[in-house]
Amino acid sequence: MTFGNGYNISNVLFIGDLYSSHHVLREVGYSFMQIQDIFLRYENDLAMVEKFIEEQQQSYVHLIPEITGYIINSGGKRLRPLLLMISSDLCAYEGDRRYSMAAVIEFIHTASLLHDDIVDHAIIRRGKPSANSVWGNSATVLVGDYLYTKAFKVLAEDEDPAVQKLLSITTTTMTEGELIQLMKMGEINASERDYLSVIEKKTAVLISSACAVGAILAKVPESKVEALTRFGMRLGMAYQLTDDALDYVAEEEEFGKAIGMDLKEGKTTLPLIRTLKKCSSDEKALIKRVLGSEDVKDSEIKEIISLISGYKGIEYAMEKAKEYILEAKKFLEPFEDTIPREALFAISDYIVERKL
Ligand code: IPE
Ligand code: IPE
Ligand code: MG
Ligand code: MG
Repeated sequence: MTFGNGYNISNVLFIGDLYSSHHVLREVGYSFMQIQDIFLRYENDLAMVEKFIEEQQQSYVHLIPEITGYIINSGGKRLRPLLLMISSDLCAYEGDRRYSMAAVIEFIHTASLLHDDIVDHAIIRRGKPSANSVWGNSATVLVGDYLYTKAFKVLAEDEDPAVQKLLSITTTTMTEGELIQLMKMGEINASERDYLSVIEKKTAVLISSACAVGAILAKVPESKVEALTRFGMRLGMAYQLTDDALDYVAEEEEFGKAIGMDLKEGKTTLPLIRTLKKCSSDEKALIKRVLGSEDVKDSEIKEIISLISGYKGIEYAMEKAKEYILEAKKFLEPFEDTIPREALFAISDYIVERKL
């Protein structure tokens, strides 16, 4: 049996006593679970979240459930609700608020995708035509607003100032991240630091909050909330780093989004930033021309992808993602060795192994 990172279990067992129990391996962040096992374990909880989402997206304005139903039922991974379920489980919370709070987070995520696809001129989302390409920008932006405001209505009814404050700061930070990214579009001199700051804001904070809310609901000591916040932040960084690598190298059918979109949009993500740092001035001139161009040709994309591949830009980004995963796992050390903790280890590994 080989782990995703190439670690061979037979070698471990051969070493004998020291490594003979699963417990020892879990202590260092290995998990024997697969992502499918985790989804299965939380299947009933996630069904409760779906039920709540379904109820909340109803409106007498038929276009609202038409568009929200389209995007919400088109196969998102539900990573953030799942993280909230596991974090609350880890902190021994079993109440119903985890369903409504997970729905709130998925609403914020979905609204951000509706708006993001308009901003990014995306045509495919979750393997289907994006909402903006079916209904146009105007209806899509308004339905995004509906989901954001519905999320905050549910939060108001929930009456927990800690969660309200966290999720309102999270949502404004995400918007700031998307705006900073917009202002840097086509920027050939973007630094790795700028890039990491953007992905922290646009992606990592929401994933972090999903983990933190699970702990807040459980009313555990602040140190545990903080540990899960930090765990989730690093998971979120790795998640977007992987997404940006997949943007160049995934299979479109599997990924559910068009390939090479970041380059077409002039978004300088880490594989390209790394390439720009390493390449010759002629190659840099080519990248600059493509980044600034309105109409990028497929042949130019191919050329840049081969530059990225030559300078190992994908490997560089994935190494960084794996570093974040290693750091993330360290924040789970204060928690007892339980099934939910192992599930979080397994999700951590999945994040850098995923193809969709
Ligand atoms: C897409 O998020 C946007 C990013 C932060 C990369 P997901 O990959 O979680 O999207 P869905 O919900 O599964 O479609
Ligand atoms: C993630 O950014 C979107 C948000 C966090 C709102 P991207 O633009 O990179 O995500 P995809 O590739 O469209 O899913
Ligand atoms: Mg996008
Ligand atoms: Mg992307």
